Order: sequence, then C-alpha cells, then structure tokens
Amino acid sequence: MRPVGFYGDQILPRFTNQILSGREHKEIRSRVVGGLYGEVLEVGFGSGLNVPHYPSGVDRVLAVDPATVGRRLAAERVSASPVPVEYIGLDGQLLPLEAATIDHVLTTWTMCTIPNIASALGEIHRVLRPGGELHFAEHGLSPDPKVAKWQDRLTPFQRWWAGGCHLNRPIDRLIEEAGFAVTRMDNFYMKGPRPMGYMFEGLATKS
Ligand SMILES: C[S@@+](CC[C@H](N)C(=O)[O-])C[C@H]1O[C@@H](n2cnc3c(N)ncnc32)[C@H](O)[C@@H]1O
Repeated sequence: MRPVGFYGDQILPRFTNQILSGREHKEIRSRVVGGLYGEVLEVGFGSGLNVPHYPSGVDRVLAVDPATVGRRLAAERVSASPVPVEYIGLDGQLLPLEAATIDHVLTTWTMCTIPNIASALGEIHRVLRPGGELHFAEHGLSPDPKVAKWQDRLTPFQRWWAGGCHLNRPIDRLIEEAGFAVTRMDNFYMKGPRPMGYMFEGLATKS
C-alpha cells in the first residue's frame, strides 16, 4: 500500500523530511549513532537526516532506499559530511552485499515501512559480521492495550497516507526473531499522539 505517483514520489518524501527533523528526533538520532564505526550500512537512508550525527569513527556509509527524491533532499547534508556516503541499492529486502561484510547497520523510523520487514531483518542479519551490531530507533506496537487498539485501528489509514507505515509492528520481537540478541533497549513515547510515538531505541548483536 505504497502511494504511487506524484504524492508518493514527490510530496511524501518532502513531508517526511520535515516531520522527522524536529529537536526530539535529532536527540534520538545523536544517541542511536553512538558507537558506530567502520563500514556502516544505513537501511532506509531517506533524506539523510542521520548524516550530521555520524561519529568520526565511521569510515563509510552504504545507503539503501527506494526514494529518489530523498537522495536530492540529502545531497547538501551528504556533500557537507566528512563521512563518505555511497548509494548501493533501493531495497532493504534484498541487499546487494556479501554475507558477513558489514560492521554496523543503522535504521531509524524505517522498520514501520519496509513491506516485508522479516525479509529485511534477515538480510541485515546476513550481511553483518559475527558480533556486528544493529543500531535502531523505530516506532511500533505499544504494550498498553488501549494504545495498541488505536494503533490497530489507525494502521490502515497510516499505511495509505504515509508510504506503507505500520503503527503496530512489534519491533523488539521482529528483531529477535531475525536471530539477534537485543543488548540495549529503551522504550518511551515521543511527544504527540501516543499511537504514533511508541519508540524502541537500542542495539542488537548478531551472535
Ligand atoms: C519514515 S522514512 C524514514 C527515513 C529515515 N530513516 C529517517 O530517519 O529520516 C521511511 C524510509 O523507509 C524507506 N523505505 C521504504 N521501503 C523501503 C525498502 N524496501 N528498503 C529500504 N528502505 C525503504 C522510505 O523510502 C523512507 O525513506
């Protein structure tokens, strides 16, 4: 249920770029990139809003995202960054990388949107080196049944207008089911409507 045409291609990436640029988002971005180094894969690179936060130990970022407008919106951030960014693909569900070649993977506000998130997490697990880490800041299913009920109700509408975004994905369970050990997890609500803002921020290791 990904919007196509002018809205999906042109308007939605610009709108997403705006709504994910706030101060609270920036604070989360600067925390979740902590400890990244070496060769980093960012799945759902979008408009490159994490680029200014990459730590100096990162040698190179390999970017994957289907949105071509996102690349244009990212161009200034990418050219100002001391960390080189290379676009390597369009789909996190099928990564054009050898197995066990990547030190770290970063995803932010992306696991909600990738159509087959289990496949994408399987691919992320495949390309990480043993001991490599997935750094994530993702919104998803609240443990509060009242909020979760609203997330279920609102998800069809959210998917329709927000590029396939699900409000009700159990992010922690999906990460564990892909074979990761979650080593750090902070859960909280962002400011704003609770169904949209239950967060899973943390680290998961490929054992
Ligand atoms: C809500 S945006 C978040 C963008 C960015 N990660 C951020 O934090 O600003 C979701 C992103 O997931 C991307 N996306 C959708 N399907 C994808 C797929 N199959 N593989 C990789 N990225 C995908 C979208 O194009 C979009 O850039």
